[in-house]
This record gives sequence, C-alpha cells and structure tokens, in this order.
Amino acid sequence: MERFDGSPSGGRYGEAVFRPEQAGEGERIDFGALAYDDVTLARLRALGVGPGWRCLDVGAGTGTVSRRLLDEAGVAGVLAVDRDVRFLAERPVPGLDVREADITAPDAVPGRFRLVHARFVLMHLPERERLIAELAERLEPGGVLVLSDAVDLTGERTPGTPYSTAMRAMWEGLRATIGTDVSWVPSYPRLLREAGLVRVGAEVHVPPLLPGSPISRFWADTWERSRAAMTATGLVDDAGVDAAVRYLESEECAALSAGMLTAWGWKPGPDA
Ligand SMILES: C[S@@+](CC[C@H](N)C(=O)[O-])C[C@H]1O[C@@H](n2cnc3c(N)ncnc32)[C@H](O)[C@@H]1O
Repeated sequence: MERFDGSPSGGRYGEAVFRPEQAGEGERIDFGALAYDDVTLARLRALGVGPGWRCLDVGAGTGTVSRRLLDEAGVAGVLAVDRDVRFLAERPVPGLDVREADITAPDAVPGRFRLVHARFVLMHLPERERLIAELAERLEPGGVLVLSDAVDLTGERTPGTPYSTAMRAMWEGLRATIGTDVSWVPSYPRLLREAGLVRVGAEVHVPPLLPGSPISRFWADTWERSRAAMTATGLVDDAGVDAAVRYLESEECAALSAGMLTAWGWKPGPDA
C-alpha cells in the first residue's frame, strides 16, 4: 500500500465522498442534526441570538439550524450558504435566503452578520485556518462567530473494538481523500483569538452511542459512504466495517462517540 504523504487525493468534500446526489445523503446529514441541533440551538440562544439578528449559516447542509434560528430563536433572517443547495431549496421558509457558493472562493459571501455559524464544515476543508480569519471578517461589530466540529475521543489507549478500528480508519481515510483533519479542532479557541475576537469560549458535547440513536445511525451511514476511503487505509477491510456497524447496533456497544466542540468569539464593538 502507498503511504499517505499528507496531500488529499480524492478532491473536495462532496466529490470523492459525501456526494449530495447519492441517495440518502440528506438523511445522513439529518441524523447528525438530530444528534446535535438541540445543543447547538441552546448554545446560540445562550449567546443571545434572537430577534433582530442577521445570521450566516456556512455549509448549512439540510438547513435544520438555519430554520430553527428563524422558527424558535426568531432571528430577522438567515443566509444559508452551501456548495450544493439541493436540500436547502427543498424546504423554503420565510426569512431563509439560500446561496450556492464554495466558501473557499474569494468573496463567496457578501455582507456582514451579527452571527456567523459553521458546524461540521471547516474540519473538512484544508483551508480552515484562513477561513476562520475570513469568517471573522464577515462579522459586524459586536457580532459572534460560532464554530462547531468533531473532536476524536479514541485515544492511543482505547481498547481495540470494531468501533475504534472503524473510527481510526475513517479519520485517516477522510484525511487522505478530502483533507478532513479534526486534530485542529481543539485549537479553535486560540485561532478565534488570533482572528481578533474576544471573550472566547468553548465547550464539548458527546452524545451517547445507544443502539438505534441518531448518532449511532449517523456513524453507520458515514462509514457506508466513506467505506472505500476507509478500506484504502489498510486499517480495516469490508468485514471490519460490517462488524463495526453491527457493534454499534448491539447492546454490547460501549464506546465514546466523537464529540462536538463548539467555540465562539466576539468581534469588539458596541455590545462586546
Ligand atoms: C457534514 S455537513 C454539515 C451540515 C450542517 N452544517 C449541519 O451541521 O447539519 C457539511 C456541509 O458543508 C458543505 N460544504 C462542504 N464544503 C463546502 C464548501 N467548500 N463551501 C460551501 N459548503 C461546503 C457540504 O455541502 C455539506 O452540506
């Protein structure tokens, strides 16, 4: 097997893996949303997001957070940006503007916002460090940038289970194909500070891996879609991926999901 030399080989998110046109991709994103949306909305509301706020949701996926910002938090409007807007366009709601754009392109997003939010997006983009600085530029004075991404909790001393083997293969496979890298995520508070933001905070949420839960179904679906990248690492074969899916569905399962780290920082201004 060739060794991975650090450069992604399979193109970008949505090309080699997680293709939006592949049946079931919207449902996969929705399983992740079901696992995390309540936590995300609670954090955004605790930060004060509410009536009058103009919001940007970067890599909005199926738009569950964008819609809940409008329906539950009562914000003034949300611009939802994604490289592929088919899922966003399926469920239009008043106040939701949709823009198809690659956020790594110059001037992908016009305007300034009081909230800029990106969840499970930057971890997949090799330009993440530059993008954090650019997203901070999209804030109006007193606005807040909120980033959420995965933190891998399978440590060196995690006993080998079908789950931990599959997780290691998934992270390495995604890194080799599209450049996903979650090792950066714990640095987000520092990167937000370096982008000129203040009152930086962060927290981690780990949903329980219970059989049939949205997060267990999310990982099973994610492994199915990244199976070729996983097996190409040589760390797991098809039978190993199948065993990991069965393990997730069984009462034997005793593992920690990857967590979601949420970090935020405020642009100095009248309210910050
Ligand atoms: C894992 S999904 C997360 C969706 C949503 N933020 C959520 O948490 O439910 C990642 C999303 O980022 C989008 N995305 C990936 N690369 C992008 C890019 N370069 N520009 C814009 N969107 C991108 C994908 O199309 C996908 O909808």
